[in-house]
Order: sequence, then structure tokens, then C-alpha cells
Amino acid sequence: MPLESARPLWASRLGFILAAAGSAVGLGNIWKFPYIAGQNGGGAFVLVYLACIVVVGLPIMMAELMIGRHTRRDAVGAFRQLAGRRSPWLAAGWVSIAAAFLILSYYSVVAGWTLDYVLLSLTGSFTGQSAPAIEALFASLIGSGGRQIAWHLLFMLLCLGIVVGGVQKGIERWSKILMPVLFFLLALLFVNGLLSRGAWEGFVFLFRPDFHRLTWGAVLEAMGHAFFTLSLGMAAMITYGSYLKRSEDLLSASLRVVLLDTVIALMAGLAIFSIVFSVGMTPAGGPGLVFKTIPVVFSQLAGGPFLAIVFFLLLAFAALTSAISLLEAQVAYLIDERGWGRRQATCTLAALAFVVGIPTALSYNLLADWQLIGERSFFDSADLVASNYLLPLSGLLIAIYVGWFWSGTEEKEELIAGGAGWVYPLWHLLIRFVSPLAVAIVLLFKVRETGLFSWLLSFF
Ligand code: PHE
Repeated sequence: MPLESARPLWASRLGFILAAAGSAVGLGNIWKFPYIAGQNGGGAFVLVYLACIVVVGLPIMMAELMIGRHTRRDAVGAFRQLAGRRSPWLAAGWVSIAAAFLILSYYSVVAGWTLDYVLLSLTGSFTGQSAPAIEALFASLIGSGGRQIAWHLLFMLLCLGIVVGGVQKGIERWSKILMPVLFFLLALLFVNGLLSRGAWEGFVFLFRPDFHRLTWGAVLEAMGHAFFTLSLGMAAMITYGSYLKRSEDLLSASLRVVLLDTVIALMAGLAIFSIVFSVGMTPAGGPGLVFKTIPVVFSQLAGGPFLAIVFFLLLAFAALTSAISLLEAQVAYLIDERGWGRRQATCTLAALAFVVGIPTALSYNLLADWQLIGERSFFDSADLVASNYLLPLSGLLIAIYVGWFWSGTEEKEELIAGGAGWVYPLWHLLIRFVSPLAVAIVLLFKVRETGLFSWLLSFF
């Protein structure tokens, strides 16, 4: 089939691993993981999170890569090919592409904040300032729609510039540059954290399990985060898997990606907690941890101005490699299913995501009074819908389809092709029973907790 041979593939295995790890390692690892671990009592939460990564995250990641590689299609096309043109399973593809679209729109705004903070650190804005003055910098950023929109635009253009280059010359090439730099920056921060006075305290905080503080809510949060951090349920891994050579061992490739993602989250957590403790502050700072607490900490540390640059560059790079996977997942749909050219598809989707991101950038200023779902701003509503409903929903559909409806022979072929046939029985057990059950529970609780039903009922 000419279409098949024209479709791009990763040039090397390392290229795939870096690109997929680039997708997985994002704001979730460096921003969200440390603060939810902080809020939920550290050690015990980390243990539950690790368990979720292994029993839920890894099997679903393998499933997504298998679907992509087997069909060599985007997420919607993959289900069309597997289940048939009119099959209800197409919903799994649609939901995941919708999630990618929505997430990209607001992810880019938050990534824009990190760019703003790179500039603030480069110009030494935190140096010699009082804590309230530094915290006020964040308020002034989110208070300004124009400034956020400008950064959001710049970030979207960066994504566009990479994705338009294609799989090998754009995504793979840039992942091979950005990921090593990211790792180097993180290593700098990590070593600095280890050498600081707060290192032991940070270590104890992150790793000593305190099961009294572990609530059911925390378990759900851990499970949801395992999903988000591995970029599951949003078409990214299906799409990246579709560029993977048949001879690759899917198990070892997924293991590497998962391991990199986890190690980076733990290193970021340790680095952050150590330096926060070293100046006698507390880490449970909620979402403000990164944009308020951390700059205050840097302003009090020797070498702080330099570390601040390192830290915010690290965040920006992590966000960039994640955002390109979200864009690519949608671009692949237009190319594979609608026959668009890459340039046209990338420009259109980046422009759309930019426009839809604008109300997010205005959520704390112009549109501060506009409440969409429950008493949530546009930003919080988009995040609620995407990460609490769409991701688990598509993950659930994928797990059920793969576990119960996909032909076992094709699944086995996918695993055997790269030499991981032996893991089939274990993987199949997890994807059939454990993963869907776990994801279904998360989804039900999220729906109940966030009041989706009462919101829907309020229309009647
Ligand atoms: N995994 C990324 C993170 O941890 C977020 C992301 C979600 C990236 C979806 C791509 C797709 O921040």
C-alpha cells in the first residue's frame, strides 16, 4: 500500500524513547507531582503513585503503543481500522483527540508562564526582593491578559515550528536536543538540592510513608496523575506508537519511558523539597509552589539567580516536548484521515489551539467573573473536563477494547514481534481486569466529586 510506505517512522529507537519520554515528562512531573505529593503527605502517596504507574499506567501505555503500531494510524483512524467504520469504539479515538486539543490550549498558556519566568529570572527580578514582592509578580502576570496571550502565542509558535518539521526532522531531532538538556538542568538542581541543608528533610518527606495521612482522595489523585503524567488517554502514545518499527520490543521501550518519567518526577520532587526545607519554608504550597514559593526560595539562596534560570528553563523545555506530542496527535488525524498536508494541518491546529487558549489566559483578569462549570473559570473548566473526564474515559475505553474486544492473536503478534511475547499473560490480566476497574473507579469518583451530574441536571 503506498500510503503505508509514505508514512514516517522514527529513525532510531533512542529517538522514539526520547520523544515519548519528552511527551510524558512535562509540567505534570515538575510542577504537579511535587505539590500533590506535598499535599497528600509525601511517602505513602508516592508509594501508591508508583503502584498505579506499574499496574495501570504501564499496561495502558503498552496498549496504546500496540494499537498505534499495529494500525499505523492516528487515534481515530486506528479504531476505524480495528473496529470498523461505524463502530462505537471510534469514540475512544475521538475522546482522546478532543482531550489532546483541549489540554494543548491551556497547557500552552501555563507553558507561557514558564517562559515569562525564564525572562524574569534572566533579568534578576527575584534578587534582593521580599517574599510578598516576589509573590506579587505572579499576581501581576496572571492579572495581565495581554502578557499571557503574548507568551502563549510564542509558545504555540515554538510547537508549530517543531511539529511542522515532521516526525524525524522535527519531533525526533528536537527531542534529541531538548531531552538531554532537560536532564542536565535537572541534574544541576538535583545536586544542588542534595548539597543543601534541607536534603535529608526533603528525602524523609518524599519517602517516609505516613499512612495516616493517606486518604481515599489521595489514592484517586495518585491514579489520575499516573495517567496524566504518562500522557495516556490523549492520543499521544497511539500516535507515537504508530511511527514505531515493528522490530522494537514494546515492553522494554515502554519500561524505559515509564522509568524516565518516574525518575525525573522523583528527582524534581527531591530537588524542590530539599531547597524549600533548606530555607525553612513548607512545601504544601498548592499550585503556587512553582511560581511563588520557588522564586522566594531562590531569592534567599546563594547562587539563586542562576538556579532560577535553570529551573524555569527546565520547566519550559519539559512543557515544550509534551505540547508537541499533543499537537502531533491531532496533526496525524488530519493527515491520515483527511489527507491534509503536514504544513496546513499543523498551522490550522496550532491557530485553533491558540484561539481556544485565549479565554484561559483571560481567566484571572478580564473573564474572572465568567463561570462555566460549577463555579469554575474557563481554565478550570477546561482542565476539569479534559483531565478528569476525557482522559479517564478514553483510557477506560482503550483498556476495555484492548482487553476484551481486540483479537488476542494480533495483540500477541505485536508483543512477539519485538521479543516480548512472554509478558503477554501478565499484561493481558492487567489490561483486562485491573486497569479498567481502576480507571472506572477514578472516573466515577471524579464525576461524583466534581458535581458533573448536578451541573447537568441543573439544565432541566
Ligand atoms: N505528560 C505530561 C505531563 O506530565 C502532560 C501531557 C499530557 C503531555 C498529555 C502530553 C499529553 O505534564
